[in-house]
Order: sequence, then structure tokens, then C-alpha cells
Amino acid sequence: MTKQLIVETVDLTKNYDNTTVVDKLNLRIEEGDIFGFLGPNGAGKTTTILMLLGLTEPTSGTAHIYGYNSTREPLKVKRITGYVPEKVGFYEDLAAGYNLAYTARLNGLPEELVIKRVDESLDIVGLSEVAEQKVGEFSRGMKQRLAIADILIKMPKVAILDEPTSGIDPEGITQMLDMIAEIAKERKMTVIMCSHQLYQVQRICNRIGILAKGQLVVEGLLDQLGREALGGGRLRIEVKLTEITSELIDCIRRIGGVVSVERSGDLLLISCLEDLRPQIARVIVGANGLLVEMKIQSYALEDIYRKYFREA
Ligand SMILES: Nc1ncnc2c1ncn2[C@@H]1O[C@H](COP(=O)(O)OP(=O)(O)OP(=O)(O)O)[C@@H](O)[C@H]1O
Ligand SMILES: [Mg+2]
Repeated sequence: MTKQLIVETVDLTKNYDNTTVVDKLNLRIEEGDIFGFLGPNGAGKTTTILMLLGLTEPTSGTAHIYGYNSTREPLKVKRITGYVPEKVGFYEDLAAGYNLAYTARLNGLPEELVIKRVDESLDIVGLSEVAEQKVGEFSRGMKQRLAIADILIKMPKVAILDEPTSGIDPEGITQMLDMIAEIAKERKMTVIMCSHQLYQVQRICNRIGILAKGQLVVEGLLDQLGREALGGGRLRIEVKLTEITSELIDCIRRIGGVVSVERSGDLLLISCLEDLRPQIARVIVGANGLLVEMKIQSYALEDIYRKYFREA
């Protein structure tokens, strides 16, 4: 079953003066995807988002959300999209609940639904108890939560979050990310999330794109890219030995489930489909090898990031 394509850009390009900051971008994001949009400062992520939302015009190329052309039908795009910008803004002198009610009315929500939706949204982000408090008295993390509540008001099909966890404490970050993932799943909401924190992206995203100097250096499903970065396996086992012989490497290669064996100094890097530590240890001992250390890791987004930046 093919999923519906929610976000699509075709050769999307933006020049500022004579500089190309987004360069022929081709993105395809499907329904329910949580897309991690990565790349160094100035790579063009925010500019891309602004074009997706119809807030800035592309120099060439097109962007569509849900089939709507972002440049020609920006109002339709805005109706189905929730956007949390890098810097969130609220009416500081007004209570949190009042700010959300304002958003609800602005979005044309019928009056009998306003209070209900505001209460629900505050509840989801854990701010019910401070609904009456002025936003000016909120901490940065509370404002960030309120920004999520604010987009939930209109029940968007797509949520675009630019650095949603900046300024939040570590525990708050985990809660926030899990909350985003849960809402996305429950409501079949597609999410685009910009972040510099690789472990955060790895925690909730299923698809990633890495932008460098306006170009997409890699895009795809995280699991698949992770396996490629590990040489085809799901897991990497690192073995430290006193002596490595080519016979030993051959023996390890023959273990079922081993995808590749690479030597790096006194380490063997074994990429495999499952946890084969006992089998590997047995082979090493059988070959009279001295095992110094054995570590196992699943792929880290860092592996992917490093791999593609080396190639770029
Ligand atoms: N309004 C503007 N006028 C001129 N140049 C701009 C404008 N907005 C952005 N740029 C430039 O475009 C490039 C991409 O900026 P953008 O904000 O999209 O990067 P980013 O990937 O979001 O970076 P960060 O990770 O720091 O948020 C930068 O070189 C920036 O200076
Ligand atoms: Mg940015």
C-alpha cells in the first residue's frame, strides 16, 4: 500500500541577492512521517520551511503540501499546517488559555468548540494548571509547550517545528519529543522537525534529510540509512583483540548473520543482522585469540551524518 504524499518539492530554489541558499531541493514526505530536517547553521532549513508555508517565494521550483501549491494557495496551505517558528511569540500580558482561544477564533473555530479545544490542547501538553497564568510569566520551556498546544488547536494535518526543543531541560525534551510522536501517531499528523540534536531526531523521526549549503546530501528512511552506514547490518559489534589474523577474520565472516568484517587497528568492526556476541566470542576463543573487549551498538544517526558529510 503506498502512502499519500503530503509534502513534495520539485527543484525548489531560493536565491538571496546572488547567493543560492536553497538549491534544487526535491523532498518527498509521506503521511505519518516524522521527518527530521538536519544540517549545519545557514544550510537553508528555515528558508525551505518558509517556502513550504508560502511565507517567502521560491526563486524557482515548486512546493506542495497536500496537493496545494504553497506559493499560489498559501491560505489553503496555512489552514492545514501548524507552524512552530524558531522564535515563538504570544501575547505576554494575556493568560495562556486566552492566547489559545484567540488562535482558535482566528482560525474560525465555532464558538461552542473554542473552550473545549483549548482545554484539550492545554491538557495534552501538560499546561492545564497554568491556563490562567500570563504567558509573560512562563519559562522558556513552558512557552515552547504552549506553542505546540497552539498548533494543536486547529488540528493540522502537517506540523512544521523549527527547533521545537530549544531552551528545554533534558527531561522536558524527552517528554516533548514523546508527546509529539504520540500526537502524530494518534492524529495521523505528518511532522517536519528541524533540529541540531541528532539523538533527538533519532528518538522520534522515521525519515531524515540532511541539507548542506542548500543541497540535500542525503534523504531517506532512517533505518535504511542506518543500515547502510553500518555496512548493511542492523548492529555493529566492536571487538578488541591482542592479535588479529586473516584466518580469524575469515572464521568470523562465516558466522551466519555476519554482514561484513572490517579491521581498524586492533579492532574488528563486525556488522551483523542480530546480536552475535556469543558466537563471535566462541570463534575467537576457538582460534586461541585473546579477547580484550567487546562492544555492541545499533547505528547512531551520528554515523549517517558523518558518512554523508565526508562524502559531500
Ligand atoms: N531574509 C534574508 N535575506 C538574505 N539572506 C538570508 C535571509 N534569510 C536567510 N538568509 C541566508 O540564507 C542562508 C540560509 O539561512 P537559513 O535561516 O535558512 O538557515 P538554517 O539552515 O535554518 O540555519 P540554522 O540552523 O542556523 O537555523 C543563510 O546564509 C542566511 O544568511
Ligand atoms: Mg533555521
